[in-house]
Amino acid sequence: MLSVQHVWKSYGSVQAVCDISLELSPGEVLGLLGPNGAGKSTLLGLIAGLLVPDRGNVELPGGGSPRDPRARRSLGLAPQSLSLYEGLTARENLAFFARLYGLRGEQLRERVSACLALAGLESRRNDRVATFSGGMKRRLNLAAALVHDPPLLLLDEPTVGVDPQTRAHLFDQVERLRDEGKAIIYATHYMEEASRLCKRVAIVDHGRLLALDDVDRLIQAYGGHSQVTIVLRESPPESIALPGPWQDGTVKWETNTPLEDLMRLAQSGLEWEETTIRSPDLETVFLRLTGRSLRDAGASEETEDAREVEAGS
Ligand SMILES: Nc1ncnc2c1ncn2[C@@H]1O[C@H](COP(=O)(O)OP(=O)(O)O)[C@@H](O)[C@H]1O
Ligand SMILES: [Mg+2]
Repeated sequence: MLSVQHVWKSYGSVQAVCDISLELSPGEVLGLLGPNGAGKSTLLGLIAGLLVPDRGNVELPGGGSPRDPRARRSLGLAPQSLSLYEGLTARENLAFFARLYGLRGEQLRERVSACLALAGLESRRNDRVATFSGGMKRRLNLAAALVHDPPLLLLDEPTVGVDPQTRAHLFDQVERLRDEGKAIIYATHYMEEASRLCKRVAIVDHGRLLALDDVDRLIQAYGGHSQVTIVLRESPPESIALPGPWQDGTVKWETNTPLEDLMRLAQSGLEWEETTIRSPDLETVFLRLTGRSLRDAGASEETEDAREVEAGS
């Protein structure tokens, strides 16, 4: 229903998107995971027709091109930088976007009410957006992308700067929309959000698509072993074969069978104090693919988030 074929986009000397291809089916949430500056927003801009690719092609649901305004009605973009009119009320904002997408009369009124309810903003519908918290604005930003009921949704970092309740609310909405059959691209630099919401993720860095597959397949392919650490202050009896060296009061080892290993040790009579099992996750996958941690790569953005949450609440 969405097909992206070998798209490229540069800004001067910066190659923001390099040769990315992907396909999306109805009822799927595809995670677009990458650190700050990876090219996620640029890719969404190319799909939404805000940017024109230097090379390559995008086919929207229905077969149209993002350059065709009518074809663009098949998608809704909730941009990373909020796209709302602060001086208008919540209802006026939604009505504005609905009109832009060709809705009129009763249909417009119905969709605006439905989307106000979806955003949990019915009681604030006649208040100006300028009076809203960061979380309320994010919810309205999502509702504005949905108001014309498009089959394809592009959500660009929808939880940046929101409180925990709004985050939970957004997750519920995304899952409900997916179950209704929408195709959704969910761009984020939060690994936990991609693993929670998406079966399949595209991992991007420096404009390149490094991997595109189911989360569990990626972890299997690139995640490596689990790391187990047990704390063992006393020197262990020599009769027990340890899975790793005893050093500084701990034993550490890598394994694909952490629980079995621990059971075997317990059965052999070993006693220890603490156990930590670090299972491979998308963070490990990113580290293996890029040599950098996703958290470090996105570190500057984290502080920005913290500021936005404070300013918004
Ligand atoms: N309008 C622009 N002009 C010049 N460079 C840009 C512009 N927008 C983005 N970039 C650069 O393109 C790269 C990808 O940016 P972006 O798509 O915003 O990444 P992400 O959304 O993953 O953080 C970055 O190096 C960024 O600095
Ligand atoms: Mg971005």
